[in-house]
Amino acid sequence: MPDLTTEQLRPDGSLRHLLTLEGLSRAQLERLLERAQGFVRPLGVRPAMSQTLNGTTVANLFTEPSTRTRVSFELAAKRLGAAVVNLEMQLSSRVKGESMLDTVYTLQSMQVDAFVIRDAEAGVPQLVAAHVAPHVSVLSAGEAHLSHPTQGLLDALTIRQSKPRFGELTVAIVGDIRHSRVARSDWHALRTLGVTQLRLVAPPALMPDAGEFAGGARHTRLEDGLKNADVIVMLRIQKERMGEADLPDGKQYFGAWGLTRERLALARPDAIVMHPQPMNRGIEIASEVADGPQSVIRDQVRNGVAVRMAVLEEVLGGRR
Ligand code: NCD
Repeated sequence: MPDLTTEQLRPDGSLRHLLTLEGLSRAQLERLLERAQGFVRPLGVRPAMSQTLNGTTVANLFTEPSTRTRVSFELAAKRLGAAVVNLEMQLSSRVKGESMLDTVYTLQSMQVDAFVIRDAEAGVPQLVAAHVAPHVSVLSAGEAHLSHPTQGLLDALTIRQSKPRFGELTVAIVGDIRHSRVARSDWHALRTLGVTQLRLVAPPALMPDAGEFAGGARHTRLEDGLKNADVIVMLRIQKERMGEADLPDGKQYFGAWGLTRERLALARPDAIVMHPQPMNRGIEIASEVADGPQSVIRDQVRNGVAVRMAVLEEVLGGRR
């Protein structure tokens, strides 16, 4: 497999693809966040728009369901003046790699400049990145349980908006960490940006293997993991990545692992609550917390468009 961390950069060090946050420097991440922040507008005000990508075309190729990520990539591209095509492909895994490449070659001949790819299997964005023409970029919109780089960036941006001193933060990542690409990308982003107090809070069955997330404090009781946290990242139970036998019972899970108002009170009084969505209300999070004053879940969605604008501009903006 190619070395992702260098394969996604151009020889001059600029970003060509975005396949993972792993290996990107703090300066690169900060630059993307700064650029994204410039695209954030309050609700009710017209969104940021520009024509910097006028004449370019972005294709969304999704083989896993997605609402927010697909729509926000589409809005991001359109608000920069790019044209967008959306393909939701149902491919059997046997033919997936091949069919995906055929689709990519077809669209590339139609002068598509960037492919946004989501797939349940590991390695698909890299496979495409290794085969596209030199002027074409590939952006991962979620790769198996491994990475979701734009989600990592938008989560970092959301945290930065209320808690910019990353070095002082205690961040608790809670729930199904084992199967979560969001947790992995958040981890890489936050580590690189200087967060040292990162807690992995999960029941043993949903904790990642010991070799992963090196240096994180592990808690198998929710109450311990929440204590004095500044940021709480709740994760969805990734049912689609578990066998029948491993599926936790929703009611029992909520009893031990649901983020309720009482449990939230263990964190710092100004702690923020995040969730990448889709949420299982009443399973991993109580509605009154998801919709409550400490929730920044809707800000995450808003920031998602801004981050995707920043990334698209970064990879395509230098193009004539
Ligand atoms: C996440 C994903 O697809 O990994 N959703 C998203 O992109 N907003 C998280 C999830 O599905 O739980």
